[in-house]
Amino acid sequence: MSALSEPMAVTAAPPQRPQQILFELNRSLPTAANLTAIERIEAQWIVPHVERLTRATSPVRSRREWLDLLHALLDEERSGSDAGRYLAEQSTRAQFTHVVREFALDGLTEAQNFFPAVPRLPIRAQMAIMRVLIDEFGCGNIMQAHSMLYADLLTELGLPCSVDDYIASTEDETYRFLNSFYWLALRAPRIEYFLGALAYLESSIPNAFRVQARACERLRIAGGRYYTEHLHIDTFHTEELQVAIREVEKVDGLDATRLWVGARLLSGLLDDAFEAAVDRARTLS
Ligand SMILES: [Fe+2]
Ligand SMILES: [Fe+2]
Repeated sequence: MSALSEPMAVTAAPPQRPQQILFELNRSLPTAANLTAIERIEAQWIVPHVERLTRATSPVRSRREWLDLLHALLDEERSGSDAGRYLAEQSTRAQFTHVVREFALDGLTEAQNFFPAVPRLPIRAQMAIMRVLIDEFGCGNIMQAHSMLYADLLTELGLPCSVDDYIASTEDETYRFLNSFYWLALRAPRIEYFLGALAYLESSIPNAFRVQARACERLRIAGGRYYTEHLHIDTFHTEELQVAIREVEKVDGLDATRLWVGARLLSGLLDDAFEAAVDRARTLS
Protein backbone atom coordinates (compact mmCIF):
# COMPACT_ATOMS: atom_id res chain seq x y z
CA MET A 1 0.00 0.00 0.00
CA SER A 2 1.35 3.42 -0.86
CA ALA A 3 1.82 5.79 2.06
CA LEU A 4 -0.23 8.35 0.16
CA SER A 5 -3.19 6.16 -0.75
CA GLU A 6 -4.87 5.92 2.64
CA PRO A 7 -4.61 7.65 6.01
CA MET A 8 -1.73 6.21 8.00
CA ALA A 9 -2.42 4.17 11.12
CA VAL A 10 -0.43 6.67 13.14
CA THR A 11 -1.85 5.71 16.52
CA ALA A 12 -0.27 2.26 16.16
CA ALA A 13 3.28 3.66 16.04
CA PRO A 14 5.36 3.27 19.19
CA PRO A 15 5.16 6.39 21.38
CA GLN A 16 8.93 6.65 21.69
CA ARG A 17 9.27 7.48 17.98
CA PRO A 18 7.78 10.97 17.58
CA GLN A 19 9.80 11.62 14.40
CA GLN A 20 8.41 8.49 12.73
CA ILE A 21 4.90 9.48 13.84
CA LEU A 22 5.47 12.99 12.49
CA PHE A 23 6.57 11.65 9.10
CA GLU A 24 3.47 9.47 8.89
CA LEU A 25 1.25 12.36 9.95
CA ASN A 26 2.89 14.63 7.37
CA ARG A 27 1.85 12.12 4.70
CA SER A 28 -1.65 11.48 6.06
CA LEU A 29 -4.92 13.26 5.29
CA PRO A 30 -4.67 16.82 6.65
CA THR A 31 -7.56 16.50 9.08
CA ALA A 32 -7.82 18.88 12.01
CA ALA A 33 -6.78 16.08 14.37
CA ASN A 34 -3.71 15.19 12.29
CA LEU A 35 -2.66 18.83 11.97
CA THR A 36 -3.05 19.34 15.70
CA ALA A 37 -0.85 16.31 16.33
CA ILE A 38 1.73 17.59 13.82
CA GLU A 39 1.82 21.02 15.45
CA ARG A 40 2.20 19.46 18.89
CA ILE A 41 5.31 17.50 17.83
CA GLU A 42 6.78 20.40 15.86
CA ALA A 43 6.24 22.76 18.83
CA GLN A 44 8.53 20.55 20.90
CA TRP A 45 11.13 20.07 18.21
CA ILE A 46 11.64 22.24 15.14
CA VAL A 47 10.07 25.44 16.45
CA PRO A 48 12.43 25.72 19.47
CA HIS A 49 15.32 24.46 17.30
CA VAL A 50 14.79 27.29 14.81
CA GLU A 51 14.46 29.75 17.70
CA ARG A 52 17.79 28.53 19.10
CA LEU A 53 19.49 28.88 15.72
CA THR A 54 18.03 32.37 15.34
CA ARG A 55 19.30 33.46 18.77
CA ALA A 56 22.77 32.12 17.90
CA THR A 57 22.89 34.03 14.57
CA SER A 58 23.86 37.66 14.13
CA PRO A 59 21.36 39.51 11.95
CA VAL A 60 22.09 39.10 8.22
CA ARG A 61 21.42 42.45 6.62
CA SER A 62 21.21 41.67 2.90
CA ARG A 63 21.00 38.95 0.25
CA ARG A 64 24.65 39.69 -0.59
CA GLU A 65 25.69 39.10 3.01
CA TRP A 66 23.67 35.86 3.08
CA LEU A 67 25.37 34.66 -0.12
CA ASP A 68 28.80 35.31 1.41
CA LEU A 69 27.81 33.28 4.48
CA LEU A 70 26.43 30.48 2.32
CA HIS A 71 29.58 30.33 0.18
CA ALA A 72 31.75 30.24 3.31
CA LEU A 73 29.69 27.34 4.68
CA LEU A 74 29.93 25.46 1.36
CA ASP A 75 33.71 26.06 1.25
CA GLU A 76 34.02 24.68 4.77
CA GLU A 77 32.05 21.58 3.80
CA ARG A 78 34.00 21.08 0.56
CA SER A 79 36.96 19.60 2.41
CA GLY A 80 34.66 16.70 3.36
CA SER A 81 34.33 14.62 6.50
CA ASP A 82 35.88 11.41 7.78
CA ALA A 83 32.50 9.74 7.29
CA GLY A 84 32.41 10.90 3.67
CA ARG A 85 35.97 9.79 2.97
CA TYR A 86 35.26 6.39 4.49
CA LEU A 87 32.09 5.89 2.48
CA ALA A 88 33.76 7.00 -0.77
CA GLU A 89 36.99 5.03 -0.48
CA GLN A 90 36.66 2.20 2.04
CA SER A 91 33.07 1.13 2.57
CA THR A 92 32.09 -2.40 1.68
CA ARG A 93 29.07 -3.05 -0.52
CA ALA A 94 27.06 -4.02 2.59
CA GLN A 95 28.05 -0.82 4.38
CA PHE A 96 27.19 1.36 1.37
CA THR A 97 23.90 -0.50 1.01
CA HIS A 98 23.08 0.35 4.62
CA VAL A 99 23.47 4.07 3.88
CA VAL A 100 21.37 3.82 0.71
CA ARG A 101 18.70 2.04 2.73
CA GLU A 102 18.75 4.67 5.45
CA PHE A 103 18.02 7.43 2.90
CA ALA A 104 15.39 5.41 1.01
CA LEU A 105 12.48 7.46 2.36
CA ASP A 106 14.20 10.57 1.09
CA GLY A 107 14.97 9.14 -2.35
CA LEU A 108 11.57 7.50 -2.83
CA THR A 109 9.62 10.64 -1.89
CA GLU A 110 12.08 13.06 -3.42
CA ALA A 111 10.85 16.64 -3.79
CA GLN A 112 7.22 15.75 -3.04
CA ASN A 113 7.31 17.86 0.10
CA PHE A 114 8.44 21.01 -1.77
CA PHE A 115 5.12 21.56 -3.54
CA PRO A 116 3.25 23.38 -0.74
CA ALA A 117 5.84 26.16 -0.89
CA VAL A 118 4.93 27.08 -4.48
CA PRO A 119 1.69 29.05 -3.80
CA ARG A 120 3.47 30.96 -1.03
CA LEU A 121 5.83 32.56 -3.57
CA PRO A 122 5.48 35.44 -6.05
CA ILE A 123 4.79 34.23 -9.59
CA ARG A 124 8.33 34.49 -11.04
CA ALA A 125 9.73 32.69 -7.99
CA GLN A 126 7.03 30.02 -8.50
CA MET A 127 8.37 29.51 -12.04
CA ALA A 128 11.93 29.00 -10.78
CA ILE A 129 10.82 26.44 -8.18
CA MET A 130 8.60 24.71 -10.74
CA ARG A 131 11.58 24.37 -13.12
CA VAL A 132 13.43 22.61 -10.28
CA LEU A 133 10.43 20.39 -9.56
CA ILE A 134 10.01 19.50 -13.24
CA ASP A 135 13.60 18.21 -13.25
CA GLU A 136 13.06 16.33 -9.98
CA PHE A 137 10.13 14.58 -11.68
CA GLY A 138 12.16 13.72 -14.79
CA CYS A 139 10.35 16.28 -16.99
CA GLY A 140 7.41 13.85 -16.88
CA ASN A 141 9.54 10.88 -17.93
CA ILE A 142 9.29 8.19 -15.27
CA MET A 143 12.71 6.77 -16.22
CA GLN A 144 14.36 10.09 -15.35
CA ALA A 145 12.38 10.93 -12.20
CA HIS A 146 14.80 11.13 -9.31
CA SER A 147 12.61 8.87 -7.15
CA MET A 148 12.75 6.28 -9.94
CA LEU A 149 16.54 6.58 -10.20
CA TYR A 150 16.63 5.88 -6.46
CA ALA A 151 14.27 2.93 -6.88
CA ASP A 152 16.63 1.55 -9.55
CA LEU A 153 19.52 1.88 -7.10
CA LEU A 154 17.54 0.12 -4.35
CA THR A 155 16.60 -2.70 -6.72
CA GLU A 156 20.20 -3.20 -7.80
CA LEU A 157 21.20 -3.49 -4.14
CA GLY A 158 18.47 -6.06 -3.49
CA LEU A 159 16.24 -3.70 -1.48
CA PRO A 160 12.48 -3.10 -1.76
CA CYS A 161 11.06 0.05 -3.36
CA SER A 162 7.97 0.85 -1.34
CA VAL A 163 7.88 3.69 1.20
CA ASP A 164 6.15 1.41 3.70
CA ASP A 165 9.15 -0.94 3.75
CA TYR A 166 11.31 1.74 5.38
CA ILE A 167 8.98 3.35 7.93
CA ALA A 168 10.01 1.16 10.87
CA SER A 169 13.75 1.00 10.16
CA THR A 170 14.51 4.65 9.34
CA GLU A 171 16.40 6.36 12.15
CA ASP A 172 15.37 9.53 13.98
CA GLU A 173 18.23 11.62 12.53
CA THR A 174 17.00 10.84 9.02
CA TYR A 175 13.39 11.52 9.95
CA ARG A 176 14.37 14.94 11.32
CA PHE A 177 15.90 15.84 7.95
CA LEU A 178 12.80 14.56 6.11
CA ASN A 179 10.29 16.18 8.46
CA SER A 180 12.00 19.55 8.36
CA PHE A 181 10.87 20.15 4.77
CA TYR A 182 7.20 19.60 5.62
CA TRP A 183 7.46 22.35 8.24
CA LEU A 184 9.58 24.58 5.99
CA ALA A 185 7.20 24.37 3.02
CA LEU A 186 3.89 24.42 4.90
CA ARG A 187 4.13 25.90 8.36
CA ALA A 188 7.27 28.03 8.66
CA PRO A 189 5.97 31.55 9.34
CA ARG A 190 8.09 33.01 6.50
CA ILE A 191 9.02 31.39 3.19
CA GLU A 192 12.65 32.52 3.51
CA TYR A 193 13.31 29.57 5.84
CA PHE A 194 12.30 27.18 3.04
CA LEU A 195 14.22 29.07 0.36
CA GLY A 196 17.37 29.26 2.47
CA ALA A 197 17.19 25.54 3.25
CA LEU A 198 16.58 24.51 -0.36
CA ALA A 199 19.21 26.92 -1.69
CA TYR A 200 21.68 25.29 0.69
CA LEU A 201 20.61 21.77 -0.29
CA GLU A 202 20.80 22.33 -4.05
CA SER A 203 24.17 24.07 -3.83
CA SER A 204 25.72 21.55 -1.43
CA ILE A 205 24.76 18.42 -3.39
CA PRO A 206 27.13 18.93 -6.36
CA ASN A 207 29.94 18.54 -3.84
CA ALA A 208 28.33 16.22 -1.28
CA PHE A 209 27.15 13.54 -3.72
CA ARG A 210 30.69 13.10 -5.07
CA VAL A 211 31.12 10.78 -2.06
CA GLN A 212 28.32 8.39 -3.04
CA ALA A 213 29.16 8.69 -6.75
CA ARG A 214 32.74 7.66 -6.00
CA ALA A 215 31.58 4.75 -3.80
CA CYS A 216 29.33 3.51 -6.63
CA GLU A 217 32.16 3.81 -9.15
CA ARG A 218 34.51 1.87 -6.85
CA LEU A 219 31.91 -0.79 -5.98
CA ARG A 220 30.68 -1.00 -9.60
CA ILE A 221 27.11 -0.04 -8.80
CA ALA A 222 25.34 1.17 -11.94
CA GLY A 223 22.62 2.86 -9.88
CA GLY A 224 25.18 5.49 -8.97
CA ARG A 225 23.48 7.33 -11.80
CA TYR A 226 21.13 8.72 -9.14
CA TYR A 227 24.12 10.59 -7.65
CA THR A 228 25.88 11.58 -10.89
CA GLU A 229 22.60 12.98 -12.24
CA HIS A 230 22.49 15.25 -9.19
CA LEU A 231 26.10 16.37 -9.63
CA HIS A 232 24.95 17.72 -12.99
CA ILE A 233 21.39 18.96 -12.47
CA ASP A 234 21.81 20.60 -9.07
CA THR A 235 24.26 23.12 -10.51
CA PHE A 236 21.22 24.42 -12.47
CA HIS A 237 18.95 24.14 -9.43
CA THR A 238 21.43 26.26 -7.45
CA GLU A 239 20.89 29.05 -10.02
CA GLU A 240 17.09 28.66 -9.95
CA LEU A 241 17.04 29.09 -6.18
CA GLN A 242 18.95 32.34 -6.55
CA VAL A 243 16.35 33.48 -9.12
CA ALA A 244 13.54 32.60 -6.70
CA ILE A 245 15.19 34.47 -3.84
CA ARG A 246 15.81 37.60 -5.96
CA GLU A 247 12.14 37.56 -7.00
CA VAL A 248 10.95 37.32 -3.40
CA GLU A 249 13.23 40.22 -2.56
CA LYS A 250 11.78 42.32 -5.41
CA VAL A 251 8.14 41.61 -4.65
CA ASP A 252 7.88 41.10 -0.89
CA GLY A 253 11.23 42.21 0.52
CA LEU A 254 13.64 39.69 1.98
CA ASP A 255 14.53 38.64 5.50
CA ALA A 256 18.07 37.41 4.88
CA THR A 257 18.48 36.25 8.50
CA ARG A 258 15.71 33.71 7.95
CA LEU A 259 17.40 32.52 4.72
CA TRP A 260 20.54 31.89 6.74
CA VAL A 261 18.70 30.15 9.59
CA GLY A 262 17.04 27.88 7.00
CA ALA A 263 20.44 27.02 5.50
CA ARG A 264 21.98 26.34 8.94
CA LEU A 265 18.99 24.25 9.95
CA LEU A 266 19.24 21.99 6.93
CA SER A 267 23.03 21.78 6.95
CA GLY A 268 22.93 20.58 10.58
CA LEU A 269 20.10 18.09 10.11
CA LEU A 270 21.61 16.59 6.96
CA ASP A 271 25.05 16.33 8.52
CA ASP A 272 23.60 14.57 11.59
CA ALA A 273 21.67 12.12 9.39
CA PHE A 274 24.65 11.33 7.16
CA GLU A 275 27.13 10.91 10.04
CA ALA A 276 24.72 8.66 11.96
CA ALA A 277 24.04 6.52 8.87
CA VAL A 278 27.75 6.05 8.13
CA ASP A 279 28.54 5.36 11.81
CA ARG A 280 25.93 2.61 11.87
CA ALA A 281 27.13 1.25 8.52
CA ARG A 282 30.67 0.97 9.86
CA THR A 283 29.51 -1.51 12.49
CA LEU A 284 28.71 -3.91 9.63
CA SER A 285 31.38 -5.87 7.79
FE1 LIG B 1 16.73 15.33 -6.97
FE1 LIG C 1 17.79 19.30 -7.23
